[in-house]
Amino acid sequence: MSRLACEGGRPVRSQFMVFGAPRIGEEEIAEVVDTLRSGWIGFGPKCLRFEQDFAAYTRAPHALSLNSATAALHLALIAAGVGEGDEVITTPLTFCATANVIAHVGATPVFVDVDERTQNIDPSLIARAVTPRTRAILPVHMCGWPCDMAAIGEIAQRHGLVVIEDAAHAVEAWYAGRKVGSISPFTAFSFYATKNMTTAEGGMLTVRDATAHDRLRTLRLHGLDKDAWKRYEPGAFLPYETLEPGYKYNMTDLQASLGLHQLARIEANLRVRQEIWSAYDEAFAGLDTVRTPGLHDDAQTRHARHLYTLRLELDSLSADRPRFMAALAAENIGSGIHFVPLHLHRWYAKKLGTRRGDFPAAEAIGDTTLSLPLSAAMTLADARDVVRAVRKIVHRYRRGAAMVSGWKPEPARGAA
Ligand SMILES: Cc1ncc(COP(=O)(O)O)c(C=O)c1O
Repeated sequence: MSRLACEGGRPVRSQFMVFGAPRIGEEEIAEVVDTLRSGWIGFGPKCLRFEQDFAAYTRAPHALSLNSATAALHLALIAAGVGEGDEVITTPLTFCATANVIAHVGATPVFVDVDERTQNIDPSLIARAVTPRTRAILPVHMCGWPCDMAAIGEIAQRHGLVVIEDAAHAVEAWYAGRKVGSISPFTAFSFYATKNMTTAEGGMLTVRDATAHDRLRTLRLHGLDKDAWKRYEPGAFLPYETLEPGYKYNMTDLQASLGLHQLARIEANLRVRQEIWSAYDEAFAGLDTVRTPGLHDDAQTRHARHLYTLRLELDSLSADRPRFMAALAAENIGSGIHFVPLHLHRWYAKKLGTRRGDFPAAEAIGDTTLSLPLSAAMTLADARDVVRAVRKIVHRYRRGAAMVSGWKPEPARGAA
């Protein structure tokens, strides 16, 4: 094995592979140009077309285009009537936005540990977290693998709770023969720059109920009556009116220009990521120093393949995760951490009195995994570079491996 780049060797590639680079086609570029030339770049007809296409793709009755998944989750909580003094059950293994919006409506996030195998909220732990104040369950389809929605739905029904799905990672996911987006009253999707499909920033909320959808259409645009966005059209001289104090959460036609074509290519892009995923699975299967995600589709369930998380068996490695990631970066491979569990973040720890040890499965994942590049913009040759870099690093830091260049291995975790 060649010398690591961080120890003076040659990196596996000469150009840095950005983690989560999007695949933008000529169609997106042409559509953006068309919008720029149209004289209307704000919220308008392309957003509406994008909503229709997205609702059709997810088999959802309604879809609402927004400026982020964060906005989608926030609006869903408001529409579900969650407010001051309420509790919302969710996972600590997620991006902070999932819990922040619960705080925004004056409610308290109640964390429940995850299943270490799926990384998703463990339904067997949810029921005991329900109190008279619980109003909703907010599961996150972590990395793109759908949560056990049958079990979650059953608990919600038994206790009269609303389910709001965080599908920021899971546009393409299917659960038990049902498309994610069509299962619960509300499902939030993200089109952030690194997501499976992107509008640079953006999101979508699918909604089951027509009345809730009607209200949300006004809430996403200041609370103005529904067609207020048409106020600059010729002949649109009718005054618009505030129905309730809403938010500035709308998408723009510029973003929808990207979204329309990203959505049209979503299945093809998924196939690219499935291939990369399989290449990683195959390449890392024989290594005893790392563990692959180990989640496989069946006829009824489909993984959206958003994040490929490699679990480091730190006891068999003489490098910790920061060193491992720095070594990857030196090989010109970007990587990420998903996530540091929220109960360990300063604000949540203080607010909820949580501490290390409270959610052992989320902590184990949060402490030991790193996400490898997985994007439809990658080629299989790129994936092979990632594999070569991981193999090189694992080979070098495997406990008992020959020492190079005077670097001293660190003691094993927990060793004196
Ligand atoms: C699980 C999860 N939920 C919500 C969000 C928020 O998405 P957005 O950036 O579109 O608001 C993210 C973004 O990374 C996420 O990973």
